[in-house]
Amino acid sequence: MKVPLLDIKQQNDALRPQIEAALGKVLDTNGFILGEEVAALEKELAAYCGTKYAIACASGTDALLLALMAFDVGFDDEVITTPYSFFATVSSITRLGAVPIFVDVDPRTYNLNVEQIEEKITDKTKAIQPVHLYGQCAEMEKLREISRKYNVPLVEDAAQAIGAEENGKRAGALSEIGCFSFYPSKNLGGMGDGGFMTTDDEKLAEKLFALRVHGSKERYYHKWVGLNSRLDGFQGAILRVKLPHLDAWSDKRKQNADYYRTLFAAAKLNEQIAVPIERENVRHIYNQFVVRVSSGQRDNLRQFLTENDIGTDVYYPVSLHLQECFKYLNYRDGDFPESERASRETLALPIYPELQKEQQEFVVAKIAEFFG
Ligand SMILES: Cc1ncc(COP(=O)(O)O)c(C=O)c1O
Repeated sequence: MKVPLLDIKQQNDALRPQIEAALGKVLDTNGFILGEEVAALEKELAAYCGTKYAIACASGTDALLLALMAFDVGFDDEVITTPYSFFATVSSITRLGAVPIFVDVDPRTYNLNVEQIEEKITDKTKAIQPVHLYGQCAEMEKLREISRKYNVPLVEDAAQAIGAEENGKRAGALSEIGCFSFYPSKNLGGMGDGGFMTTDDEKLAEKLFALRVHGSKERYYHKWVGLNSRLDGFQGAILRVKLPHLDAWSDKRKQNADYYRTLFAAAKLNEQIAVPIERENVRHIYNQFVVRVSSGQRDNLRQFLTENDIGTDVYYPVSLHLQECFKYLNYRDGDFPESERASRETLALPIYPELQKEQQEFVVAKIAEFFG
């Protein structure tokens, strides 16, 4: 049996007639850059996230960059964030000449350890950028308290977390600006790059709408120096076909996660494998199902699963404070022990909505065989 890490083709094939019709509409109307489809998508995304505005852009990476630009983050400013994430979480900060100030992760959720944030706040802190890693919200209630106390805005890196919730509120509606990605492997994936931002603040929305088109509200008149970061009409049309299915897909991922839990418990693998935990009062959308293999066997297990046609991945093998391009920040091995440990011990297993029970049973049986 083959169990790929992800099978996007199944999902796309099921919607092929609708997608082709939607693409045809864009062809007929020449709405290639932004255009009607993207404008309609923005309204639907704002409604989905529970915010007043959604602003589409060219990628999740750009969404982060644009959000920090909207707060005028620049040279020598500090932005507090996690070292255990995708590269763009931190490159968005350093691209602007600002300094990432890292806080280690909570070993249970791999999200920012909120107990360690206040000690890092200085008068240079311009923003706090938590990540909702793997599809579970960071502890936003606590983060909002800190944000209010020090008057520092929050930017959510919600690239992996569309539809995730804390206390009934959705990712993107839990801070000043939420940033999302339509990278094909996300729960709502496009057929190319794309992203968007959310906000409730009219002034920020106005600035974000301008920043994505070279900082202009009126063509050829530039209030700010922005980016060229627009979503294509084709992507907008495809995403509008997919959005109505998003909750069913995320619910299916959650069912798969629960089934893995049952299977791992029955296989008595709790010594070897730690399954992800869900915090109370959250909706986890399981963009990834990441287990911890704490016996020093992660890489050997991964090799064994590959040999058995089971796809896995490591998110992420190198903590961001140890990346070569950030050497100038002078961080060393051991500075963020939980993040470093996670990069040695975590392994993502297949969790996509179309995954079959028999495939999950095969994955867990093979893991049991490896440890047996
Ligand atoms: C946590 C996180 N932040 C940012 C990004 C960047 O998104 P994109 O690939 O759309 O630029 C991603 C996705 O790859 C991500 O997972």
